[in-house]
Amino acid sequence: MKVIWQSPSNIALIKYWGKHDKQLPNNPSLSLTLSKANTTTSLALEKKSSKKKIDLAFTFEGKENRKFSEKIETYLSSLATDFPWLEGHRLLVNSENSFPHSAGIASSASAMSALAVCLLSMDSKLKKKKNRSDFFELASFYARLGSGSAARSVYGKFSVWGKTKEIKNSSNKFAVPFPVKFHRSFENLQDTILIVHDGEKNVSSSAGHALMRHHPMEKQRYRNANNRLKEILSAFKKGDWESFCIINESEALELHALMMTSNPSYILMKPETLALIEKIQTFRKKTKIPISFTLDAGPNVHLLYPDSEKKKVQYFISNELLPFCADGKVIYDEMGNGPKQIS
Ligand code: PMV
Repeated sequence: MKVIWQSPSNIALIKYWGKHDKQLPNNPSLSLTLSKANTTTSLALEKKSSKKKIDLAFTFEGKENRKFSEKIETYLSSLATDFPWLEGHRLLVNSENSFPHSAGIASSASAMSALAVCLLSMDSKLKKKKNRSDFFELASFYARLGSGSAARSVYGKFSVWGKTKEIKNSSNKFAVPFPVKFHRSFENLQDTILIVHDGEKNVSSSAGHALMRHHPMEKQRYRNANNRLKEILSAFKKGDWESFCIINESEALELHALMMTSNPSYILMKPETLALIEKIQTFRKKTKIPISFTLDAGPNVHLLYPDSEKKKVQYFISNELLPFCADGKVIYDEMGNGPKQIS
């Protein structure tokens, strides 16, 4: 018995940074679901062949990968009460990424959401039932337990994770899809990922989240995130690109400012990151084309712009930004539609 799903990565515009209890966020976050940066995961069940609680054979892009395998085994083992069949079979899991992992592109978001939808899908199959009506909400709940940001990858376009009074039904336990109609100029929002460095980062997100506890700017940070969520929702509804650009960049810079002012402090940006930021802001001022950047927990730059300006912006990228990217590496991504069942 086998299921295969492809699930996208997402880029947070309002960032989740700081958590408590079982992967619950300290503030609500909002993300854009991507289309091309994704993970395809297959889950197959066979007759159990070992006495281990979780009998897992995990491969990443067809090869064994000890680090990922241990992470997945711990995750599956924590879910064995909810999915008892996990302990009764040999589990064959293979994952493939369409982009470099551990580079500040949320590879854990696409990987854990792909695995969560596979689990739920397999669960329905074993029970010989159709997928439940709350399939994606539940997938988001389980994806969150694997990686917080993964909770947001189960919906297309925009999604919000974390309780906020701005959105009815929002929750700390699972993400919800963007609840209102956004201005058509945001349809097909473009995100070009400028890869400055695609090696592993030296401080994990978990360590970063932990440093938010007793951070000197802790309270102010959560106030800012809540206010900006409200502002970005309004910008989406009105088609207010000027505010959108300011909010995005403030969030990105604040995320990195929090890292630079934690104890111990650390810096994930590279000189090329700053050079790109300067180029992007200068281009916006000069041309009035509303391009803006955001950053994840890494040095790579996500360049956001309207679909209608694609030609001009991509010309600018080729001419002025590519020299700052590692071997000219860039991913032309855009708003995506969420997970897809492959088989
Ligand atoms: O999902 P985690 O635990 O890897 O944390 C991700 C945190 C950021 O990517 C920096 C921000 C976010 O909201 O995705």
